[in-house]
Amino acid sequence: MMNFLNKFFLPPARSNFAADYDKLFNFIHIASFILLVAITVTIVVFVIKYRRRSEYDVPPIITDKKWMEITWTVIPLFLVLFIFGWGFRDYMQMNTPPEDAYEIHVTARKWLWTFNYANGAKSTGTLHVPAGKPVKLVMQSKDVIHSFYVPAFRVKRDVRPNAYSSLWFTAMKPDTSNLFCAEYCGTGHSGMTGKVVAQSPEDFNSWLQQAASGGGGGASSGKPLAAQGKALFEQNACSTCHSLDGSVKTGPSFKGVWGSKVTLKSGKSVTVDANYVRESILHPQAKIVQGFPPVMPTFQGTLDDHQINALIEFIKKQQ
Ligand code: CUA
Repeated sequence: MMNFLNKFFLPPARSNFAADYDKLFNFIHIASFILLVAITVTIVVFVIKYRRRSEYDVPPIITDKKWMEITWTVIPLFLVLFIFGWGFRDYMQMNTPPEDAYEIHVTARKWLWTFNYANGAKSTGTLHVPAGKPVKLVMQSKDVIHSFYVPAFRVKRDVRPNAYSSLWFTAMKPDTSNLFCAEYCGTGHSGMTGKVVAQSPEDFNSWLQQAASGGGGGASSGKPLAAQGKALFEQNACSTCHSLDGSVKTGPSFKGVWGSKVTLKSGKSVTVDANYVRESILHPQAKIVQGFPPVMPTFQGTLDDHQINALIEFIKKQQ
């Protein structure tokens, strides 16, 4: 029954909380559904039974019935208290990370997620976690309020600027789950997605080592520069605003942009070359192309020189 209901509401349960969470979630739904049916049927029956039969029909005078009033007050009261107690127990569990939880720092910004690990490793868009071990996320935002939401883990929490928020979970087994931003945060909100990759502790550790030794946010340095740029373009969610096929999104398309002359908001025109692209990545507000809003976040501190070079090579190829 429970699994059947889940098919309608939620993706497969993949965290330690999920089973408890689903029980409560489904209990509330079943209880609500039973009440909905009972009340609707009662209304329909009463409408027919007590309808006005003739013009001179006088409805009966109904006085209070104590036992009835007590019944319909006390039963819902206990139902609500029961749900409160149940919810409070699960809520406390979700807010009490175990002492030995593995800590990962999460930074949200318009419109991507970055993850920093204790050994210096860093990833963008994809959160790596060890399966079977409790993980605690310490989260902050660089700009507006975002919300970290992994439906398969049944966890969601606001990520705020100037303050930390945290949550924890244990991913049950190696698997990949979707990550969403659940707080409207601007034009790129719907594209602010990512993945949570749960790996066996051995795989996770070898990924950590690799990522810390200049894996470049996951872009393997063995690949050609333009291919690394393509990987960075995807990981940093550039595609949310910049298309590769000439279609206009929030920002200019990259198709045919290299070497072209673009007109700026100031009326001046500028040739798209390496310096222009580099400046646009690090200081996006310096030169705004006419007709586009000044909404791009800076990637200073997110992308290093090598990664910027890779992106430039990638943009060159978009003819
Ligand atoms: Cu970030 Cu919505």
